[in-house]
Amino acid sequence: MASITIRQLDEALKKKLRLRAARNGRSVEDDVRTLLREAADDTGREIPENVTPPGKAASAPHRAPSPAPFGTRRVLLVIGGGIAAYKSLDLIRRLKERDIAVRCILTKAAQEFITPLSAGAIAGERVFTDLFDPAHEFDVGHIRLARECDLIVVAPATADLMAKLAGGHADDLATAVLLATTAKVLLAPAMNPRMWSNRATQRNLAQLAADGCEFVGPNEGEMAEANERGFGRMAEPLEIAGAAERLLAPQARVLEGKRVLITSGPTHEPIDPVRYIANRSSGKQGNAIARAAAQAGAQVTLISGPVNLPDPPGVSVIKVETAQEMLAAVERALPADAAIFAAAVADWRVANAGGQKIKKKAGQATPDLSLVENPDILATVAKRKSQRPPLVIGFAAETENVVANAKAKLASKGCDWILANDVSPQTGIMGGDRNTVTLVTAAGSESWPAQSKDGVAHMLIDRIAKEIAEK
Ligand code: CTP
Repeated sequence: MASITIRQLDEALKKKLRLRAARNGRSVEDDVRTLLREAADDTGREIPENVTPPGKAASAPHRAPSPAPFGTRRVLLVIGGGIAAYKSLDLIRRLKERDIAVRCILTKAAQEFITPLSAGAIAGERVFTDLFDPAHEFDVGHIRLARECDLIVVAPATADLMAKLAGGHADDLATAVLLATTAKVLLAPAMNPRMWSNRATQRNLAQLAADGCEFVGPNEGEMAEANERGFGRMAEPLEIAGAAERLLAPQARVLEGKRVLITSGPTHEPIDPVRYIANRSSGKQGNAIARAAAQAGAQVTLISGPVNLPDPPGVSVIKVETAQEMLAAVERALPADAAIFAAAVADWRVANAGGQKIKKKAGQATPDLSLVENPDILATVAKRKSQRPPLVIGFAAETENVVANAKAKLASKGCDWILANDVSPQTGIMGGDRNTVTLVTAAGSESWPAQSKDGVAHMLIDRIAKEIAEK
């Protein structure tokens, strides 16, 4: 079998080949093959079967990265150094059976758990490990790795990798590629529960979510360490593959032409002109739903209490302060095909709110704030005789008996669905970037995976689109 080793060619010739390959957007190796194929077509002579790239010994031929056919979805899988790395081998298989091409980067630490050979054998492609490997850097390069993918999946995303990514480090191939990419990034965190709950990790998580990274997991369960359990187990390969597939799907305009009404954020109920009663709602979940609905083609009206967030693009935003103002704005915004009540409306307002600042006076009793109940906006809309939106969805913010309380709210408020979440301070949901919800309907309840608030929003929009289509 004839073969050609580029490394052994004359320097000037190599330089020409490099320039030609770069111009054609191919690796030198692929470009030489193309050149030889063309020459064979012209001359009718046989071409060498082996083309060994620069920097590689002829005795160690490797499988060249075969360019994925046009239209193939491409994932770059960054495998970090954790015991869960063994599950990433299965993940490669799960992605490939969905016709997704997978290219792998193994960090140095990952190679303590699995080998490039095993990942490469399953992926059917060369595995990349070093930032400064002359063969790889010349042949493909970290910038090309960062560009030639539709999605980067980091699994396992270790505490260290997350910290580096949040800090913008680029001291190895994985982090350099992650810094250079414009593709979406999906992280599947995996670590010991104490590392996961550590403030530094949670800070990095918040930063990464704010930077637009998506997350799948971690799940709760047994740890590799004996007698340890908690949050930190990497999501299962099927879950990760499903999340990747969702992110790879072009945003379908599943709500084209539909009117969607959303309430969001807290309400502020004045005590006097400078003081108010409020709650810790950030409005992030409601904003994410508005963004996702607009991306899905809906005409969206977002009625928001005071929040510290930019208005979602393509959404008509109406800003209100109090529950009464919110109800009035909602009623003005009807009709709608679906209404989602994500606001954390204050249940009470101060009956005797003063027009002037209440002053403390020495020796006098503290002010007596008498409270009256606010209108229940969700229940009012769900029980309307006219212009009731065909699909009315509420949230249930609970700190105990989450699903049971949500079922009771579904019945008492007369809405169609409730998304229940546990807002106890230790969950970090109120004000945070992630959410874990249970969808409660008349048909039963369904737990959704822990994910970013954007992830919840997209799942909800897909469900709404299906429901509206069936009505
Ligand atoms: N809601 C509303 N108007 C109110 C109170 C709540 O529209 N005055 C809506 C919320 O937007 C949410 C749902 O009702 O969709 C449930 O809100 P939640 O705060 O969980 O419950 P409450 O009805 O306030 O009951 P409780 O505080 O007793 O749990």
